[in-house]
Amino acid sequence: METPLLRALVRRIRTLGPLTVSEYMQTCALHPQYGYYQTGKDKIGRKGDFVTAPEVSPIFGELVALWFMVQWRDWLQSPRQIRLIELGPGTGTLMKNMLQTARQFPEFYRALHVQLLEAGRPFQARQQSMLQAYVQERKVSWLDALDLDGFDASAGSDSGPVMFLAHEFLDALPVHHFVRCQRIQQQQQQQQQQQQQQQQQPVAWSERLVDIVDGGETNSPRLRFVQSRGITPAAALWTSHPLLRPMLEHEQLTAIEVPTGAMAVIERICRIMSQRGGVALVVDYAKAAEPPLACTLRAVRQHRFEDPLVAPGEADITVDVDFDLLAKVAQATAPALQVHVLSQREFLLRMGLQVRLQVVARKHQDAASRLFAACQRLIAPEAMGHVYQVMGIASSIPNGNRAPYDVLFPFHARPST
Ligand SMILES: C[S@@+](CC[C@H](N)C(=O)[O-])C[C@H]1O[C@@H](n2cnc3c(N)ncnc32)[C@H](O)[C@@H]1O
Repeated sequence: METPLLRALVRRIRTLGPLTVSEYMQTCALHPQYGYYQTGKDKIGRKGDFVTAPEVSPIFGELVALWFMVQWRDWLQSPRQIRLIELGPGTGTLMKNMLQTARQFPEFYRALHVQLLEAGRPFQARQQSMLQAYVQERKVSWLDALDLDGFDASAGSDSGPVMFLAHEFLDALPVHHFVRCQRIQQQQQQQQQQQQQQQQQPVAWSERLVDIVDGGETNSPRLRFVQSRGITPAAALWTSHPLLRPMLEHEQLTAIEVPTGAMAVIERICRIMSQRGGVALVVDYAKAAEPPLACTLRAVRQHRFEDPLVAPGEADITVDVDFDLLAKVAQATAPALQVHVLSQREFLLRMGLQVRLQVVARKHQDAASRLFAACQRLIAPEAMGHVYQVMGIASSIPNGNRAPYDVLFPFHARPST
């Protein structure tokens, strides 16, 4: 499909050569004019390309707000000021539902200040209008970057704990793809000797790149994946990363996906939490555990998966999120942090979804069956219940105080389903 972004990409590749998968994803998402998140087209919801949990039922946001309130009160010991940073807030629906719930806990609400990190201009405008009342109240503002210096400057003298929320954010961040290649060193001796002495060096990895297939004079150019000729700097760097090296031994791996964008964000928020104290909640579409680092890059358009190279700028390009790897990144960044993962189903049930649903359904009897169906969609294993996972991260409890529990709520026991 010849999109305006395809034309811009073709010009760029003709001048500067093929792009890494990471550069391709970043350009498709955030190109200033033609990036998917920079154009006004509807993206989230039935008329858009995909649906997310906050749009399915407001009860999702209510329970997430409750989680933060409980962590503020019990884990962080009710600090007088608490900052909640939401990464990639989309339409602002999740935060609106959360703030409506937070208001019901006046002490928490008084302490709370929300900051949104949003790179897409149209989404920022949507959030401004969705959260207008809270913006006027100075309850909500925007951050330019997840940068500790910028962050501290905007926080003034406040250096207290921080809470982070990333709902369907990490799956949109760039990844690199590396492809296994075997290097065989030829010995310069007789042929028989050569065969005996052929030495296989350790596995080397080239990088998957995005290049053009020229369509000649009649057809418009298309994009295709190619392999780099040699080892690129990113391949050399990431395939020797101490967390990834053990996984690269896996025989079946001919190509791997390294979520460099998500790893950087997790490292950043863990560093902030370990310095200032805090908690984080990450919810996303999870990657299957085997084989490790499998490639999952794809595009989503009008609720269907498609080839990520077909319609640059018109489709959402995403990957499954590797929670195991991100938990290792968190732990390696700050070993004192607690890191736990549950399925979305288990998390919502433990947060009291069924009780809340009954209360709401009693109040709105005419809509009860719709409310039940929406919640069922959030927790059913074959719908969103199992493929979505929830990661909770927490710093140790401040001042050596003890929370009413040792393990972050509600990650206290092994999943029952
Ligand atoms: C898949 S949408 C999810 C929206 C929302 N959290 C939800 O669940 O409905 C991804 C969001 O992240 C934003 N985003 C993508 N890349 C970003 C980046 N590098 N920095 C900040 N925001 C980004 C998008 O504009 C969008 O708001």
